[in-house]
This record gives sequence, C-alpha cells and structure tokens, in this order.
Amino acid sequence: MLNIVLFGPPGSGKGTQAEKLIRKYGLIHMSTGDILREAISKKTPLGVRAKEYLDKGELVPDEDVVNMVIKKLDAEKDPNGFIFDGFPRTCGQARVLRNLLTDRNTRINVMIALEVQEEELINRLLKRGRESGRSDDQLSVIKNRIAVYERDTYPVIDFYQKMRKYRSVNGVGTVDEIFQRIVEVIDQMK
Ligand code: AP5
Repeated sequence: MLNIVLFGPPGSGKGTQAEKLIRKYGLIHMSTGDILREAISKKTPLGVRAKEYLDKGELVPDEDVVNMVIKKLDAEKDPNGFIFDGFPRTCGQARVLRNLLTDRNTRINVMIALEVQEEELINRLLKRGRESGRSDDQLSVIKNRIAVYERDTYPVIDFYQKMRKYRSVNGVGTVDEIFQRIVEVIDQMK
C-alpha cells in the first residue's frame, strides 16, 4: 500500500494536488474537510456538531474526526492506499493514525508539506470565497484558520520528521509544476 499525508496550511493546495495524485496512483482520497462538509450539508448529528467549528475556523474535536477516518478506512476493501488530506491536524491525530495503520499492517510512506507564504494563502482563499461562496473563506475566518494551523497543526511536522518521513515541497507555481515536484518526492519514498 502507498499511504501519503498531504500537509500544509489552509489554501496551500492539498485538495487540488490530492485530486491529481489519486488519479496517478489509484489511491483513495481521505479528506476530513470534505467528509465534514458532506455531513453538514446532510444535517447529520455529526454535521450539526461540526458546523459551529468550521464556521469559526476551529478544529473539530479529535474524537469525531478519528471516528470518521476509521469508518472510511474500514469501508475500503483492498485499497492501493490512501491520500490523507487535512488529516492528521493535531499530534494526537497523528499518533492515532500511526496506530490505526499499524493495526492494519501498513504505514505512512511520506508526509509532504506544501510551503506557501501567508499572503498567497489569503489571496487564494479570498478568491475561492468570491467564486464558490465557501462559508469559511472570509477574511476573519481565514486568519483564524491560519492561526489554528500554526498553533495546533504545524507541530505535527515534528512527529513525521522524527520518523524521517517529512518532505517539504514548494507549493507556489502552476498546479502542474507543483504536481511534478510532489511526484518526484513520492517516487523516491514509495
Ligand atoms: P479543510 O477542508 O481541510 O480545509 P483547509 O485545510 O483549510 O484547506 P483548504 O481546502 O482551504 O485548502 P487546501 O490546502 O486543500 O487547498 P485547495 O487545493 O483547496 O478543513 C476545513 C475545516 O474542517 C477546518 O477548518 C476544520 O474546522 C475542519 N477539519 C478538517 N479536517 C479536520 C481535522 N483533521 N481535525 C479537525 N478539524 C478538521 O486550494 C485552495 C484554493 O487555491 C482553490 O481555490 C484552488 O483552486 C487554489 N489553488 C490551488 N493550487 C493553486 C496554485 N498552485 N496556484 C494558485 N491557486 C491555487
């Protein structure tokens, strides 16, 4: 199995690159943000609980997110692997993911962190907010999402660095240029 953590701040291009990577490597897209937005649109009990966190740009509690991930891991029969997009987002989530994969006789091959400066992140997200109406793409919420990333999520890098699985990739350029950089890293680590 090939399991990749695609990591980076809000707007760094995780979702965009994940779509291309799942096609190239035949992987399952594990986007916790997409699963939460679907639950919100269906108004499930999880969606109702999660909405207030997403609207503020805060993290949904680990327990809810971990349960979603377990459900999707176990729903896939004989997968080639997973792209984890937006998960893990806390050191606690990273430890749980390691244990979940160990229990399933597999592991993370590489954690790829997309590097993009704050000004570019804000510009990308404001543009998407204008074009798509995504409710958390407004300036005050974007700023909080970035602050939460720096406080709670950035330390996850250290977890993967200790296991020599962390690789940083320049996330500025065209989508295809960035994709090529990511593919080079994956092909060295798989
Ligand atoms: P989530 O959906 O994961 O959002 P995010 O991390 O804020 O990421 P984005 O989707 O905004 O950005 P991205 O890096 O995927 O970039 P994208 O490709 O979309 O999480 C949303 C919320 O859910 C969280 O705030 C939290 O509340 C909750 N949540 C989710 N996971 C959780 C977890 N594990 N634990 C707890 N809570 C969780 O690109 C962004 C824009 O830029 C797009 O318009 C795109 O077209 C554009 N773009 C992409 N690449 C380029 C490029 N190279 N040049 C120019 N523009 C580009």
